[in-house]
Amino acid sequence: MQLPACTREKIAQLSADVPLTELRRAAERLSATYKDGDFGSAFDSPAARLAYLHVRLPATFAACALALGYCVEVMPKFAPQSLLDLGSGPGSAILATQQQFPSLQQIVAIERDAGLAKFANDLISGSVQQRAADIRTTALERSDLVIASYCLGEIASKERLDLIDRAWAATTGVLLVIEPGTPEGYGRILAIRDHLLRGGAQMVAPCPHVQRCPMQGTNDWCHFAARVERTSLHRQLKSAALGHEDEKFSYVAFARETAHLPASRIVRHPRQLGGHVKLELCVDGERIRQEVVTRSQKAEYRAARRIRWGDAWPPYTDGDAG
Ligand SMILES: C[S@@+](CC[C@H](N)C(=O)[O-])C[C@H]1O[C@@H](n2cnc3c(N)ncnc32)[C@H](O)[C@@H]1O
Repeated sequence: MQLPACTREKIAQLSADVPLTELRRAAERLSATYKDGDFGSAFDSPAARLAYLHVRLPATFAACALALGYCVEVMPKFAPQSLLDLGSGPGSAILATQQQFPSLQQIVAIERDAGLAKFANDLISGSVQQRAADIRTTALERSDLVIASYCLGEIASKERLDLIDRAWAATTGVLLVIEPGTPEGYGRILAIRDHLLRGGAQMVAPCPHVQRCPMQGTNDWCHFAARVERTSLHRQLKSAALGHEDEKFSYVAFARETAHLPASRIVRHPRQLGGHVKLELCVDGERIRQEVVTRSQKAEYRAARRIRWGDAWPPYTDGDAG
């Protein structure tokens, strides 16, 4: 997955006057700051904010785009007109939402870092109502789609569920929460999942059921991967040889209306072996199941060879979901 070409061009223009060595140092510092959990000082310079555009925005955009795609499969008629983006940064989730939903008319972005928020005006076409505020305390606009992308890890755990309650109260259609695909990110998603299910919210994705998460209490954690194409500058800033990276993310989406959940979801890279494909599936609250699809199961085998980690299984076909 790649950012739209015009966004890539704008990001290149925005950093054209900054020496590569300065951007690279800023990218390294940003990554170290996030690893240390020292979020308050992440954007301590203009170069740090530019570095985010190069090394994080393409990945958070891709994770968001993929998660929204999964939601649409489950709720094909969902066409939000309004979006509320919490901790919006430079607008990564807005870019992904605009791409997925041409229906979008009204966008509110709440971000405490004014320098980062300013980039959203440069990168996003159409008008965005920017609010420089603290998402923990500010009033939240009622919106068809509410997104919290990679920001809840920056909120103290004792304040998180209160914020989720307010975000859910503001949601008229779907609430999507995305976190890094680490055990910690999954832990936050799990707590939100349990909390919202107890409150009667309707599961959209990724879970095909509303029983307990079968990975809970194991060494495993539910996460997915978005493949992100790297630009040559992105490669240079990360001193990376590969032309792509896999952004690991955990997510959960809830709706006000009942969604048509799939029978199961693929929770690992499918393994294509001679004449058969091995799938690992989340089916229910008991355990992760393995399914082997052999060449003799003609149509299923064809589908299994195309299926990806994160997809619904069996795949949705037109008319499946209402
Ligand atoms: C890792 S960035 C994610 C940005 C964007 N949502 C994305 O997916 O790329 C987290 C953002 O949340 C913002 N943030 C964290 N806590 C916040 C708060 N209490 N109020 C407003 N913004 C906050 C940070 O300033 C930062 O821009």
